[in-house]
Amino acid sequence: MREVEVAGHPVLLVRDHLQFSALGSRCTHAGAPLSKGYLGQGRIRCPWHGACFSLKTGDIEEYPTLDCLTSFKVSHRVKPMSKRNPINSQTALLLGAGPAALTCAEILRQEGFTGRIVMVTRENHLPYDKTKLSKALGAKATDIYLRSQSFLDAHSIEVWMEKEVSVLNAAPTISQAILLSPLSSWPRFSPRRLQCPGANLQNVCVLLTPEDSSRILRLATGKRVAIVGASFIGMEVAASLVGKAACIEVIERAECPYQAALGCQVGQVAMKVSSPGMEPEGFLEREEGGARGQRFMQTSAPSVFAAGDVASFPVALLGGKNIDICHWQIAQAHGRVAALNMLQRQERLHTVPFFWTKLQAKSIRYAGCGIGYTETVLKGDLIKSSAWDGIVTAVASLNFDPMVAMVAEILYSGKIITKDEAE
Ligand SMILES: Cc1cc2nc3c(=O)[nH]c(=O)nc-3n(C[C@H](O)[C@H](O)[C@H](O)COP(=O)(O)OP(=O)(O)OC[C@H]3O[C@@H](n4cnc5c(N)ncnc54)[C@H](O)[C@@H]3O)c2cc1C
Ligand code: FES
Repeated sequence: MREVEVAGHPVLLVRDHLQFSALGSRCTHAGAPLSKGYLGQGRIRCPWHGACFSLKTGDIEEYPTLDCLTSFKVSHRVKPMSKRNPINSQTALLLGAGPAALTCAEILRQEGFTGRIVMVTRENHLPYDKTKLSKALGAKATDIYLRSQSFLDAHSIEVWMEKEVSVLNAAPTISQAILLSPLSSWPRFSPRRLQCPGANLQNVCVLLTPEDSSRILRLATGKRVAIVGASFIGMEVAASLVGKAACIEVIERAECPYQAALGCQVGQVAMKVSSPGMEPEGFLEREEGGARGQRFMQTSAPSVFAAGDVASFPVALLGGKNIDICHWQIAQAHGRVAALNMLQRQERLHTVPFFWTKLQAKSIRYAGCGIGYTETVLKGDLIKSSAWDGIVTAVASLNFDPMVAMVAEILYSGKIITKDEAE
């Protein structure tokens, strides 16, 4: 909930799960700022004298006051989508219900596809924001759903839940297109488990689903916790557990957190930010991925597309090298390009990878692709560029917005930033 000014008037914007409202921001009783009030179920309570107003209508639900709140019309803007036409026998079968599949489904509808769209997930959830699992440990699944059931129904996007894909016979008929997103049945996408004695002990967890996130919070509260891996997710989980777990130890085979992705200099800065309870130590191995998708996100089978964490793709910044980058924004970009190519639009992937992470209320942003970088430039407390043969391919910043967004735009435009310019 937040107060904003619209044409000189203060307006209270509220998001309650997937519902948005815009209301007068001052209580009609004695003018208290309602942005400092408490959000109850479908209503807001004034902090000063306890009046309550409906979020939907602004009507009074508790006194002392006589007047309702002004309520503004809110429309949730989604690009217009085409309606399902039952005569159209085409089917887009989207395996997985992550950001790649959801974006693919919505782009198909936005671009006029009237056939059937089916998303298949083995989980018991509608598509949700996975990036919150480590940042808000224990978040209720329904609070992080990206679309409600009524939204999906309205656009005839079927979600088959609790359906496990175990075999893929990639021979779609002429009226079918299949989107592959990461499937646990493919070895590369089974969660990487510890390969050491004790790895099967009952309280060893992986973090992939809302249930995992709640379990980790429950098991860790008040206990001693060891987190294996000090990259983004491990460090986010560690930060989420500060003040909840009795003791947190982060175990990492490299010298510093984030070393593989951001280099040791950033890791050193992160060490200053992280709490004294997090001490990296070291072991673990990294797996290499395989190439599956192309720039059009098409696989070698004509109507089978790959998108999301499953797909590697040519990264222009690295001279067209095929790289797999597991970012949320990339999964969505893949889903969009796959949808357009299912519709034979010959759309190429053109995007700059953008990633974010949080550590103790500090935001690290990262754009580009620093894999295989040969040099780094570090400025101030933390603005770091990774260069490849003297050309900047990635930039990271700590609490220095909008630096990374600006560099991402320059890289997107195709302009080259040299190491000298970065310095
Ligand atoms: C804890 C966590 C935090 C993250 N934080 C960030 C972040 O801050 N920023 C960022 O850019 N990225 C982040 N990521 C990475 C990001 O979430 C992924 O890159 C992104 O979700 C990949 O999307 P996807 O569509 O490829 O597949 P996923 O989101 O991985 O979805 C896979 C789908 O396939 C389904 N599925 C799997 N196996 C089967 C099967 N056998 N049968 C049927 N269905 C199956 C799953 O149920 C799921 O619906 C994070 C990831 C995790 C785990
Ligand atoms: S708040 Fe996430 S992109 Fe703007």
